[in-house]
Parts: sequence; structure tokens; C-alpha cells
Amino acid sequence: MSIAIDKENRLFSLNTAHTTYQLFADDNGFVHHLYYGRSIGSFDMRFTEYYSDCGFSPNPGHIHMQRDFSLDTRPQEYTGCGIGDYRISSLSVSNGDGSYSADFRYVGFAVLDGKYAIPGLPASYDNGGECETLRIDLKDHASGLELALYYGVFAEKDMITRCAVLRNGGGNPIKLYKAASACLDLPFGKWDMIHFQGRHCMERMPERTPVPHGVLTVGSDRGTSSHQHNPFAILAAPETCEEFGQCYGAMLVYSGNFKIEAECSQLQSTRLVLGISDQRFCWTLEPGEAFHTPEVLLSFTDGGLGSLSRCYQEFLAENICRGAYRDTPRQVLINNWEATYFNFTGEKLCSIARQAKELGVDMLVLDDGWFGKRDSDYSGLGDWDVNEKKLGCTLTSLIQKIQDYGMDFGIWVEPEMVSPDSDLYRTHPDWALSIPGRTPVQGRSQLVLDLSREEVVGYLYSCFSNLLRCHEIRYVKWDMNRSLTDVFSRGLPPERQGEAAHRYVLGVYNLLERLTGEFPEVLFEGCSGGGGRFDAGMLYYFPQIWCSDDTDAIERLKIQYGTSFGYPIRTMGSHVSAVPNHQTGRTTPLHTRGIVAMSGSFGYELDPQKLSREDKEEIREQILTFRRHQDLIFYGDYYRLTNAMTDDYFTAWQFAAKDGSAALLNVVVVAPKANPYPIHVHLKGLQPEAMYRETESGSVYSGAALMYGGYTLPILTGDYPGFQCRFERI
Ligand code: DGJ
Repeated sequence: MSIAIDKENRLFSLNTAHTTYQLFADDNGFVHHLYYGRSIGSFDMRFTEYYSDCGFSPNPGHIHMQRDFSLDTRPQEYTGCGIGDYRISSLSVSNGDGSYSADFRYVGFAVLDGKYAIPGLPASYDNGGECETLRIDLKDHASGLELALYYGVFAEKDMITRCAVLRNGGGNPIKLYKAASACLDLPFGKWDMIHFQGRHCMERMPERTPVPHGVLTVGSDRGTSSHQHNPFAILAAPETCEEFGQCYGAMLVYSGNFKIEAECSQLQSTRLVLGISDQRFCWTLEPGEAFHTPEVLLSFTDGGLGSLSRCYQEFLAENICRGAYRDTPRQVLINNWEATYFNFTGEKLCSIARQAKELGVDMLVLDDGWFGKRDSDYSGLGDWDVNEKKLGCTLTSLIQKIQDYGMDFGIWVEPEMVSPDSDLYRTHPDWALSIPGRTPVQGRSQLVLDLSREEVVGYLYSCFSNLLRCHEIRYVKWDMNRSLTDVFSRGLPPERQGEAAHRYVLGVYNLLERLTGEFPEVLFEGCSGGGGRFDAGMLYYFPQIWCSDDTDAIERLKIQYGTSFGYPIRTMGSHVSAVPNHQTGRTTPLHTRGIVAMSGSFGYELDPQKLSREDKEEIREQILTFRRHQDLIFYGDYYRLTNAMTDDYFTAWQFAAKDGSAALLNVVVVAPKANPYPIHVHLKGLQPEAMYRETESGSVYSGAALMYGGYTLPILTGDYPGFQCRFERI
């Protein structure tokens, strides 16, 4: 049993393999957070609680003589609202009588078998016997608002999931202005927050900041999780590094507007609150209605950031990603985007496919431009009829030709969008998000369809299910190329417009659930101008996501490094592209581009016709190399050996088989040096007493020697040289 309950003291201990999370409900019904950290079993941690009469921290009315009790100083599991806790609130509500108040008191608990589900939202799942759920029920007796706090305990995975459900059990409508998914109070210690900021073509750059007195906020109000911030944050002790030290991860399983807030309080405790962003959010709960918040995945380790990442990587791969492709090796694909952009014909595509097949590629992906009037990004989105004139044939016969080369066929779509210059927009202008009387803001000359409306989702479902039903399409790249504005739905009354942004996300999830459910044989890859929606919510539907529109190998080192903190390597779409690189103009060796791209879902994004004979030969070898290493890369443990943000000489990373039987070392020199000093790295994840052969040279080393003594690389010279070697246990 991972959930231990001391009924008399209303004390709940959630035990995982290496951690304990503990909470209790006091005699007044307030639910305190007691402890989250390394395992302490079910030992009652109330002895750590600290009470003081803290000036200007008020006392709840019915116990006002208890001057050392204030919600302003109590570590809590979820806050109420307007009742004397001035730190970050989990909730903001207004009641039927106009008051802004919620005072939740413990009502009871339930232990449920397996993992709870969240209606309409992606959430982690149990593969059978992995999870137990604790539900804590609370109620605000004055308004009737009920709060259920769910805790999913994945004991062996060291993961605790949380979500909150708010239900109007009263007789009047209640408005939610903020409804966080979880609040995590750390009563003691100093913490840094590591979050992941960025921009288009440079996503998920880790940034580490001490949690201040005041609120550190990151988030997105762009309608998607965004390139600029990622719904994942880490609280790390100041001394925590890759291999040592305490750290907590908190990841939202959500793809829309979000907010992560951290604050160090007057008594030096730290509070982390995360959930849907409260910007322009307002959700009306009629009597009897419930609101489900998105899930949060929490984990703790004292083994450093590397260990925390491996925990998330494994959990997302096994308990978030779903479907036939979850655990399977992926085909090597070639995508025509950087080869042709919009300028292609069916013949050109066939020529790319034919030549790519000769190199060992398995699938051709036809990117943007195959439908409607779509010869540039100024028109055509929404008109999903095949442009046969451009292809010179039907889609069916194009696919047939590709298949005749022995290749599978994949296709690009951007269902959530509409171009103002399209028949769809001319027929249904009201289907786009826009505000009556205002000219909608455009992004990439396109508008966003209002997926909060059932008829829009229904239309998109029939359009894309038809495409997939009528054609032998094995892969879909689902793109989304702008941030939301004018978030006003003509399907909602004025007083409910604060629901539109979340309802949009629910509409996207609904569409994805239907399409991925109906076409399990299709591999869906997510994309939002690269990595603008790289989050656990999307990974529930897409087992891989195009990591970034920046395909420059040297920039990718940082992007893939940052992404690796929370996300599995095999979920990162990464391709070898042509040089000079189209985004940076930089020229890197093909060998280096291969090493970087194969740390992900591997493919190519170039025109094979433009390759030299030597390059073609090298690509043939590269694909064989990827196939040899794919198991290790996809299912092995991943180690960051350098800090790609600050180590300016070289970047190194490694994979080790979970049973210690093999390792793959990767190094790229980012700033070659004259009179260079040696590149020396310590391998990880080997068995100290086992012997390993380096497969290229045949040299033999002990695991201990490679891990504790390290491995010195040959001198690497030239522009951005790369190095890769494999060690096999003998
Ligand atoms: C953005 C994507 O990230 C690119 O790979 C490409 O598919 C373009 N959109 C097409 O418009």
C-alpha cells in the first residue's frame, strides 16, 4: 500500500520508492501540507510544524484567540480565497452573494484503486497495478463550493500526480477567476526555480533564479503552452547540480494558457502554485456543475537534476504517451519542407522519395502546400481539398507511387487554422476567433478557428477522418502556427467569454482523442512552428513533437538539452538538414548533424538531389548507425555530461542501457581551440565491475575506469566536429 492513513490523526502519507508526501487535516478542518522529500515512511511529521503569533497574519474567526494560527503562515495543500492567506492563492472565486471568499474545511477522504481520469483532459494512466489514488474532500460551507483534491501515487515511478475538482454544491452560481491545479508548500529551505524560457527557433532554455520574496511568475497567455515558456518548473536547492542535491519537478499536463508562480514568504517558506492562467479566465459554475483542473506531475529526488529528468522521461514515455507507437522504434523519414518549401510538384516529391529510399529512408512526409490555394503562407488554410493541379495527380496516385518505391507516406496538416483568403473563411467567417466590431489580429496571415464550438470540431473531425480514411497515410504532422488573439467565441454568451481559451483547448483535445482513437495505425507528430506546444498534454496524443524549427545542429544542442530536463529523448523530432543551415547560415559537418539529430525521432529535411556522392554515402552509413543505436537512444537512460548553456568548448551527452550492457557517448565541439586541451568525460550508468569494449577501436575498459577515471577523446579539429562511440559490455 503506497497510501498510509492514520485515521485518528487524519494523517495521510503517500509513499513512493524513494519519497514520502505527507498531509493532515487538523481539528478545525484545515488541510496542512507536512512534508515532501526523501522517504520517511509514515512517521508523523507534525513535530516539524512551526507556530508563531506573526504580526499582521490574521487568525480564522472561530479560533481568533489562537493567535499563533494563521493561514498566512500555514503550509497548505490548496488555499481558499480571501481568508487571511496573503501568499499566492490557488483560487479566486466570487459567490452568489458577490463575496470573494472560500474557506475550505476537510469533509472526508477516499482511497480509489488505480489512477483517476479527468473528463475531457489528458492525464497520466496506470499500466496495471502501478497507481493508487487518494481523494481528500473539502467544502466551503457558506457557499456550498466543494473541493476534491486528487493524488495519484505511482510508487515505483516516484511520481505523485495531482488535480483539483471544484463543484458547486450550493444553490447559486459561483464564478471561478482562478483555479490552480496544485499548490506545493515547502515549509523550510532555500530554493532556486529552474524554468524553461525561449522563443521561436530557440525553445526551452533553462534559466535558474532564486525564488524571491515576492512572486516569480512564468506562463503563457498565448492560447498554447508556447515557445516562450514551458509548463514545467523545478525547485532545486542552491547547491543542486546534475548529479547531487534535492530538487522537485512540477509539470502541467496541459497545452493552453498556464501560470507557474513561486514565492518565498515572510517566514522563509516557499510556495509553488501552478495551473491554468488566470488572465482573462472566468468560469461560471451553475449549481451542481464541476470544473476539473489539468493534472500536475510532481516528483522529488535528492539525486540531482539528472535523476529528476530520468524520472520524468520514463514517466512520460510510459504513463503519458499512448498508442501503437509508444514503445516502437520509429521509421526514418524525409520531410520536403526545407527541400522545397511551397515550391514542389508531384514529380519533385517522387524524385525526393526515390533518392531517399536509396539512402535507406523509410517514409516521405509531404509538408505544407498540397491543398487548396496554398503556394505561400498567405492563403489556403482551411481548404483541405488536394491541389491535384500542383501535384499533377491525385493524392491516392501520389501515395501509390511513393509506395512503389517501397516507402510509406506521411502528410502535414494544420487543422486549427484558417486563412482569411480561403473558401472556408468566406463561407464561415464566424468560425474564426474574432471580436464583433473589431478587425482580428493576424499571425502568419492566418486566423484561429474557434475550437470551443462543437460544430467546428465536428467539421474538422469529418474533414481529417475522411482524409485518413480515404488514403494510406501512415504519419501526420499536426502543425499550429500562431498564438491566439481575439479570444471571443460566438458560441458563448458575453458573460461566459472568460471560458473561451480553456474551451478551445478542450476542443483540440476532443478532436485529437477522436482522430488518434480512430486511426491508431497512424503516427501523429505534434508541431507548433517547431516546439511551441511541446508539453505533456500534447504527448498524450502525439508520441513525438517537432522539437524546433531551428535545425542548426549547434543550436539544437541547446534546444534538445533544455527539452531533456522534462521530456523523453524519443519524443523530440529532430532532422538532419542542408548546409548552410536555413535558419542560421552556419555550415556544420554532416557527421555532426547526424549525431545531434539521432538523439531524437530521426529524419532528414533536405533535397537528396543536391547531395554529393560522398554525402549520400555518409547518409547511408548514418541511417545504419541510427538503426544500430536506436534502442539505446529510445529506451536507455539519458545523461547530460556537460551544461550546454555554459560549457562553451564542447557539449557531451550519453545513453546507457538500463541493464548497464551498453553505452553511447556523444560529443560535439562548439568552439574549436588552437593548442586544445583534452576533452575528458566521465561516463555514467555503467556497471563498475563489468568490462566494456569500445566497438570501433576494440579497446577494453572497466566500467569503474570509464565512470570514475573517465574517457579522453582524440583531438577534434575543424568546424564543429562531432564524436560518437559505443561501449558494449563483454
Ligand atoms: C512550421 C513547421 O514547424 C515547419 O516544419 C513547417 O511544417 C512549416 N510550419 C510549414 O508551414
